[in-house]
Amino acid sequence: MPTVLDHPLAAHNLTILRDRTTSSPDFRQAARRLAHLLVAEATCDMSLEDVEIETPLEATTGKRLAKPVVLVSVLRAGLGLIDAALELFPDARIGYAGVQRSEDTAEPLEYYTKFPHLDDARVLILEPMLATGGSLQWAASKVAEQGATDVTAVCVVAAPAGIEHMSRAHPDVRLVTAAVDRSLDENFYIRPGLGDMGDRLFGTE
Ligand code: URA
Repeated sequence: MPTVLDHPLAAHNLTILRDRTTSSPDFRQAARRLAHLLVAEATCDMSLEDVEIETPLEATTGKRLAKPVVLVSVLRAGLGLIDAALELFPDARIGYAGVQRSEDTAEPLEYYTKFPHLDDARVLILEPMLATGGSLQWAASKVAEQGATDVTAVCVVAAPAGIEHMSRAHPDVRLVTAAVDRSLDENFYIRPGLGDMGDRLFGTE
């Protein structure tokens, strides 16, 4: 089962995203604020290691993250979360998973992939709209082929069909989302959802 963000700011920003009257700049900003919360939740169990430092007054032991983070943006809507993720993890390496939904079958069609070294990292797959789960399953298989073993998917909204698909295909991939919505419609859009995330981020139709 996914981790569903339980925070007033998540609910507030998700409502801005859902509202059809939200302008493109406001949509981007709300997506950014929500991404901060989602990425923080997706990394809340990361291991730390001790590090010896000196404050201006004395030596002390601090903590730092024990392993690197890789962000994998599922194109194109995943790009809407990447800046916020980089603000939290400025050293993160970045991969791209270019996949398009077939208009007829909603099956994933690959057009571009490029991954950094993955096998020692916490891999965050940024897939804002978990609809059928086809694209996320495809991206999770790709990163697993490249050696990723610690993978969390960061979603804004998830549909029950996508969650089931992922729990069958990749039970080891953790899911973090701001909401689990009711269902998919006949065009594979999430209902009530927020429409086409890519179109709303980038002003296309
Ligand atoms: N992708 C979107 O952008 N929106 C949906 O509802 C489903 C997939």
